[in-house]
Amino acid sequence: ATERTLSIIKPDATRRNLTGKINALFEDAGLRIVAQKRIQLSEAQAGKFYEVHKERPFYGSLVSSMTAAPVVVQVLEGEGAVLKNRDVMGATDPKKAEPHTVRAQFAESIEANSVHGSDSPENAAIEIAFFFAGTEILP
Ligand code: CMP
Repeated sequence: ATERTLSIIKPDATRRNLTGKINALFEDAGLRIVAQKRIQLSEAQAGKFYEVHKERPFYGSLVSSMTAAPVVVQVLEGEGAVLKNRDVMGATDPKKAEPHTVRAQFAESIEANSVHGSDSPENAAIEIAFFFAGTEILP
């Protein structure tokens, strides 16, 4: 079925001017960018977005890294978009990611791993609503 997923191009990638190269990988995989904006996350916003990781040792550092420079938040649409995007991103740890993936090609570390993508259709709906009004999504 056609799905939507929330994608974030992270500060490590926007800083290195990689937005276009990463978007090309999404589009080549058949994902359509149906909403996109470049924003500066506040600590409060990043903290809330990653609330599920609050008890993890890397939480503080993750929030700092996500607010260090602008991010590009986007809605990707396509057949099985959630899983497809996870295939394009590759494993969280770039050392474990398949060579063709965004993280293998561009990530700096397990934390500065260039992209975020929703992990389920349920979370995708929550994460899309976190950043976008319905009127901003134009398939
Ligand atoms: P993301 O897919 O955005 O979801 C949570 C993020 O936490 C993850 O990508 C990484 O940026 C970060 N992360 C996950 N595991 C670790 C770890 N072991 N050490 C540091 N950062 C991590």
